[in-house]
Amino acid sequence: MAKAAATVYVCQKCGSQSRKWVGKCPDCGEWNSLVEERARTAPKGDAGARARISFRSEAKPIRYDEIASQDDARVSSGVTEFDRVLGGGIVPGSLVLIGGDPGIGKSTLLLQVADKLSAGEGRVLYVSGEESERQIKMRGERLRIEAKNLYLLPETNLEAILDEIERSEPTAIIVDSIQTVFSPRIESAPGSVSQVREVAGQFLMLAKGRGVPVFLIGHVTKDGSIAGPKTLEHIVDTVLYFEGERHHNHRIVRAAKNRFGAANELGVFEMTGAGLVPVANPSQMFLQERPENAAGSVVMVCMEGTRPVLVEVQALVSGSKKDSERRERPEGKQDLAQQMRDIFSGRGRRVTQGIDQNRVTLLVAMLEKQVGFPKLNDDIFVNVAGGLEVDEPAADLGVVAAIASSFKNTPIDPHVAVFGEVGLTGEVRGAMQAQARAREAQALGFKKLILPASNAEGLQRLLGLRVVGVRSVEEALDELF
Ligand code: TYD
Ligand code: MG
Repeated sequence: MAKAAATVYVCQKCGSQSRKWVGKCPDCGEWNSLVEERARTAPKGDAGARARISFRSEAKPIRYDEIASQDDARVSSGVTEFDRVLGGGIVPGSLVLIGGDPGIGKSTLLLQVADKLSAGEGRVLYVSGEESERQIKMRGERLRIEAKNLYLLPETNLEAILDEIERSEPTAIIVDSIQTVFSPRIESAPGSVSQVREVAGQFLMLAKGRGVPVFLIGHVTKDGSIAGPKTLEHIVDTVLYFEGERHHNHRIVRAAKNRFGAANELGVFEMTGAGLVPVANPSQMFLQERPENAAGSVVMVCMEGTRPVLVEVQALVSGSKKDSERRERPEGKQDLAQQMRDIFSGRGRRVTQGIDQNRVTLLVAMLEKQVGFPKLNDDIFVNVAGGLEVDEPAADLGVVAAIASSFKNTPIDPHVAVFGEVGLTGEVRGAMQAQARAREAQALGFKKLILPASNAEGLQRLLGLRVVGVRSVEEALDELF
């Protein structure tokens, strides 16, 4: 006999379960994130037949050397930058999660991919629980989609979707969005952690069992994670996020996880009147609006996945307001506790965009201690232009240079680019892929590259680019000013 469904409380952030309601999740520490859900009911009779979609009807051990190589099996999505973030095309049988804020372009991108995929032999199923077929058609008309083999299915019931897939045998499946799909076997609401996890699990088995790629579109919650997040990221093969804001014309798609390619790989698109257009040269685009000869701006070379990208980092060091003023109007990105600490210790604010705030705080402290910059009381703002989020130590030297430039009120030569990790004693440490970075700087017409001395040694000569290796921040600042 099936047990009566019991109630559990599930944290909507990390998915941990608890029998009683508590105000703070014991696992991830999130407040007020527990929601009452019905515990999973035991499958009734043959309804457990979803197990028919297992990886293989009867799994047997397979000899390693008899397994066919997968690499040549990749299929191009027909959208160059999308292929790139996926690690060189779509792997059959892969489950890909695409996350991003509402309105950023998830449906647009996937509809374009669906169009291209259905152009050949393929039959693409676009499951939509968010929009009616007419709405999708309207978007398709903007995108000038004329696909013959693209099928739209306005359905949110998982069982019905799986039945349709079994019937029509599509070669690629898109689900827009995973939060709208629900399994009737689970009693909690669509979009809850249990539902999202169950639905993703079913699609995983479907993808592996049938060898077709499945793309799940997912909404991102306010704090930047996909609802029911961590559990989902573990289930799927690849997680792609739309990064940055809607207010830019360009869109950045990043692989946060990829079982079939480099994580951190970047795809750059421009949102136009006719959909997303791949940007072939992101560095050029990121540098387009760079102010010439402005203090506080410098170009740094970052590795984004396998691709070097030049971006501008900007800093603004401003004499901070009086403490009493700040106490009245606390603002900025820091949390309250940090602000209070700042106020009572008399420190300025550190506000950052596109780069880790703690990293900047640390670099500022280093500048103060090792180079003698007296500015703990100043407010410091650091921004990576263009909405890119930079997360590598080699960006340190760029941040330091920009802050120094703003502090000295002296512009840095616009033909100079920098990269390098900075340690707490002010030493400049080597970064990976120096050659690739240097080539990118050369290709974009930079004249001088300031980089870690240890990287400069192994570097081949590049025409027109003077390479200057530095051992410490002081050396770097001497070179810059
Ligand atoms: P959409 O793909 O619906 O976003 P999501 O699925 O992530 O919520 O994108 C909607 C936005 O994109 C909307 O603001 C209009 C804009 N857009 C264009 O600028 N050009 C286009 O060709 C299309 C289809 C959308
Ligand atoms: Mg959408």
